[in-house]
Amino acid sequence: MQGMGASFGPRGRGGGGGAARGRRGPGSGTGGRGELRGQPHGRGPLPVQAPFPFSPGFEASGVVAGIGEGVRDVTVGDGVMVALPHGGFAEEVVAPATSVFRLPEGMDFRTAAAFPVAYGTVHLALVHRARLRRGQVLLMHGAGGNVGRAAVEVGKYLGATVLATSGSERGLEAARERGADGLIRYDREDVRDRVLEITDGGGADVVLDPVGGDLFDASLRCVAW
Ligand SMILES: NC(=O)c1ccc[n+]([C@@H]2O[C@H](COP(=O)([O-])OP(=O)(O)OC[C@H]3O[C@@H](n4cnc5c(N)ncnc54)[C@H](OP(=O)(O)O)[C@@H]3O)[C@@H](O)[C@H]2O)c1
Repeated sequence: MQGMGASFGPRGRGGGGGAARGRRGPGSGTGGRGELRGQPHGRGPLPVQAPFPFSPGFEASGVVAGIGEGVRDVTVGDGVMVALPHGGFAEEVVAPATSVFRLPEGMDFRTAAAFPVAYGTVHLALVHRARLRRGQVLLMHGAGGNVGRAAVEVGKYLGATVLATSGSERGLEAARERGADGLIRYDREDVRDRVLEITDGGGADVVLDPVGGDLFDASLRCVAW
């Protein structure tokens, strides 16, 4: 994941793109207005569907090599992560500034390359959609997966009581390490009964379910309303 050059770039408001095609992205050079340019140090693994020809890669991290007119919050030499429609695997990436985020202190390029999409998804789900609040109960299924692990962390950060379910001990351990308050093996335990038991009959205020099937039905039977 590590060890290439780097640069990035944002297009102004409503600018789509941010893609790098082949060796270089559109707008390479300094990047256009509101754009950043860079060569990725790290590349996220998610699959992408786009019309051919295209370079895959939903997300990447690296160092800004050039900025277009109007870019304010990030400058040349900054370590950044970026979410893209595609193009993160290219040698050089140009991205809209609105999709580029300066690396927090202490975050390495490898971690940053897998951060924007999973944590962005969870942030959208828990903060913008579910409006999870401090003191509420979050039931997170598939806690051993990428979305699951991120959701346990974000749920705890938001002050929720987090009940994590998984089909493996490894998954439950990952959730426990991230601060989960209750652990449930969905392949061995009755999820509805366990949630109601742990919450003294109160149930879950928010359920985030990337698994579905029987778990969805069990979730409906232990929501707090
Ligand atoms: N990763 C992202 O950034 C992202 C963004 C947007 C949407 N999504 C969507 O969110 C869902 C989960 O993504 P993810 O990246 O978290 O996937 P993942 O890392 O593969 O995790 C999925 C989890 O689902 C559970 N699971 C239960 N039955 C399964 C089965 N038959 N096959 C595979 N997993 C099963 C497992 O959890 P346990 O081991 O804990 O049982 C597994 O770890 C997917 O539908 C994905 O398309 C992901």
